Amino acid sequence: MSREGALAGVKAVIDAGPTYEDIDPVRFLGNRSSGKMGFAVAEAAVQAGAEVILIAGPVALPTPPGVARRVDVRSARQMRDAVMRAMDGADIFIAAAAVADWRVADYSARKIKKGPAGAPVLELVENPDILAEVAARDPRPFVVGFAAETDHVTEHAREKLVRKKLDLLAANRVDENIGIGTDDNALELIWTDGSETLPRAGKSELAKALVARIAAHYHARRRA
Ligand code: PMT
Repeated sequence: MSREGALAGVKAVIDAGPTYEDIDPVRFLGNRSSGKMGFAVAEAAVQAGAEVILIAGPVALPTPPGVARRVDVRSARQMRDAVMRAMDGADIFIAAAAVADWRVADYSARKIKKGPAGAPVLELVENPDILAEVAARDPRPFVVGFAAETDHVTEHAREKLVRKKLDLLAANRVDENIGIGTDDNALELIWTDGSETLPRAGKSELAKALVARIAAHYHARRRA
């Protein structure tokens, strides 16, 4: 299908939602991400003409119209594998997912029982950093990360931009009223030599503004 728009002819891979790290057959480690931000970005990218592959953690959201392919995953490692499989020929990667930083070292195939020994101690191990791995690829797509912070948003976000070698980073403050699991968000866009604030709005409206900025930065980098 031929498309028009700021991202016409561009293949974008977008991840969204939480990951769940199973402890045993009935329990998991997770977070409050609903997937709304990442799905809104996917919809806005489609509307801008991109071919979009959406890698979704466990969320209860319908696939935005026009998304070329949706892959549902549960854990960070499954999300990593699905993203890497989708990356061939991708021009842009947008990491809106709240990937669990840790998983339990030893999954218990049986439900862990309460007992006289008291509460179990869970040993955690680090999950793969999907965003950093994509940013280290050769050839490298245009890489957009998110940063969810409760404090010192700008400082933490700029540190992530540099450490993960990103082209653009969308930082959001998260608490029970904004950012994660909510309908509204506000973003601070940060790149090597600049920044821009996108004020509080519904995630759909915000995603359209974000995708317009991503398209502008992506084309500027290609012209450079
Ligand atoms: O889903 P919603 O309820 O709409 O909420 C939206 C959101 C708050 C989850 C979203 O806007 C957001 O901020 N997503 C990133 C959340 C996050 O995990 O941030 P972080 O600062 O921990 O991670 C930084 C970046 O590295 C993110 O792009 C993340 O996707 C990526 N990452 C992190 C860890 C990891 N193992 N692999 C990664 O790719």
